Amino acid sequence: MWPSSPWPSSPWPSHGGQAEALLAHFGLPADHRLDDFSANLNPLGPPAWVSDWLTKQLTGLERYPAPDYAAARQAIAAHHQLQPEQVLLTNGGAEAIFLAAALHAGKRAAIITPSFGEYARACRAHRLSITEIALPAPHFTLDIDSLLAGLNGIEVLFLCRPNNPTATLIDMSAMETLLDHSAAIGCHVVVDEAFIDMVGEAPQQASMAPLLARYSHLTLLHSMTKFYTLPGLRLGYMLAEAATIKAAETCQPAWSVNHLAAELVAPLLTDDAFARRTQRWLASERPRVAQALTELGLDVVPSQACFFLIRPSAAQEITTDALFEQLLRQGILVRHSHNFAGLNGEWLRVALRDEPANRRLVNVLKKVLHDCLR
Ligand SMILES: Cc1ncc(COP(=O)(O)O)c(C=O)c1O
Repeated sequence: MWPSSPWPSSPWPSHGGQAEALLAHFGLPADHRLDDFSANLNPLGPPAWVSDWLTKQLTGLERYPAPDYAAARQAIAAHHQLQPEQVLLTNGGAEAIFLAAALHAGKRAAIITPSFGEYARACRAHRLSITEIALPAPHFTLDIDSLLAGLNGIEVLFLCRPNNPTATLIDMSAMETLLDHSAAIGCHVVVDEAFIDMVGEAPQQASMAPLLARYSHLTLLHSMTKFYTLPGLRLGYMLAEAATIKAAETCQPAWSVNHLAAELVAPLLTDDAFARRTQRWLASERPRVAQALTELGLDVVPSQACFFLIRPSAAQEITTDALFEQLLRQGILVRHSHNFAGLNGEWLRVALRDEPANRRLVNVLKKVLHDCLR
């Protein structure tokens, strides 16, 4: 059995990617070829037309963007059947998270964990106290009764749906129970829907946007960087009742979203062919890869997103850290879980990519798991 890889005082990288630090740590050359399965991006994107389209927009960089981003807000509102006053365009989902925390500065927050680390960072930046409500391994499914019990005294709850890194989705009826209860006790609910378009065939039905009409204490956060594979452009938005959006706007720097990103919103949202292609890819690749990973004997959390949380099963002769290291040596970069509260490095997150890449991943995993028996 391979031992755990020692990782001296320096921390594991805080996000996916960051290959240089990992290669240096494991003594691998900087040009060691790596297939990146650590970032959860749509492998089909960006849509083919985006590059030419952006080039044509470059002259617009000579002016400030219109500060209210009216066209983009209108397009997002139409997409979710909301009013433009219920939409705030943001510099990525990351800015939306920080604005949501700013709205509740100094209050008592709860965060469902394990989850994306930026909720805790944003809460700390805005002086919210944090209570963690843990989803139990190995299935990470929510027990709604214990969640409601844990909300006593909490003023704002952050959760991610589907959740990064577990890829689990709290079902809509549990969300409605949560929203009824939280309304009664005066607790705001912030739901990060960054991966909602990756849930399945009818992503608009998976979003909680229609519930905004009934629940004024609900705020939704979206990212457009995952689905459209544009993380370098920075594009996201917040959906909430008009008063919440107005308050969030006062916390946002002027011109926070650049001209290119803002102008791209409407054409992206009307590219139905790209959305359909993505849904076809998810419908075929996700079950196929889930089965292949399970057949390797790994523990695999059922996924409703474009990534999987996996770990060696108790019967396998390898630790998670050693599996991470051997994959890296074989040219596969996955996401460690050392800085996800509650995962303690025991799990690895792997992105779902296109079929040839997914087959490479499964083949390398098979080899590494086989070699550790020798
Ligand atoms: C759950 C979740 N929300 C939000 C974000 C931020 O996305 P963006 O690139 O839109 O800022 C990420 C990025 O990894 C994420 O995983």
